[in-house]
Amino acid sequence: MLNTWTFMKRFARSPAAIGSIVPSSRFLVTKMLESVDWYQTNSIIELGAGTGVITEAIDAQRTVGSTFISFERDDDMRHALNARFPDIHTHHDAFLLHEVLAKQGLSSVDCIISGLPFANFDNSQRRTLFSDIHAALRPGGVFIAFQYTRLLQPYFLSVYGRYECKRVLINIPPALVYFCTKQ
Ligand SMILES: C[S@@+](CC[C@H](N)C(=O)[O-])C[C@H]1O[C@@H](n2cnc3c(N)ncnc32)[C@H](O)[C@@H]1O
Repeated sequence: MLNTWTFMKRFARSPAAIGSIVPSSRFLVTKMLESVDWYQTNSIIELGAGTGVITEAIDAQRTVGSTFISFERDDDMRHALNARFPDIHTHHDAFLLHEVLAKQGLSSVDCIISGLPFANFDNSQRRTLFSDIHAALRPGGVFIAFQYTRLLQPYFLSVYGRYECKRVLINIPPALVYFCTKQ
């Protein structure tokens, strides 16, 4: 299992790719997941799983028989996730979301949870991911993402029409959690 120290070393090596110096706090993890209706959620995607702090909470709360697919680009963190959560389908790159869902035979999913460092992607990458995420959700499906700045608000607004934003102060750094529902 990879720990906080390993995560910090990854951040020191590639700060933009990792996006935060330490894994999310339990307060942020709780805020991310507290509004999910697990009984209406049979398919869950996690983007940017890191050391698995949110993965673990999703896995503990999701219903038996639900499908859970997680993406993490760092090879060591992804291998550690594979070893720790053998029942979860784990993939390399969030930009392959569309292909992975097609291979799994999933036309849409109920819930997408993101820890991706969107602010460190370029505009074209952001547009691609926002469009892929929206396309992957079923109508009524939810997209929940944390960010450290308000930079992405125009994207949430233009793609989903509206969003809810909650602040989590006990996290390094303090975070904003965005909740969007596909109309
Ligand atoms: C801010 S960290 C969040 C980690 C974890 N979810 C948490 O809350 O502690 C962002 C994670 O996204 C991963 N990541 C960055 N770009 C990615 C991509 N294109 N596909 C999948 N994961 C990516 C990084 O390797 C890093 O582990």
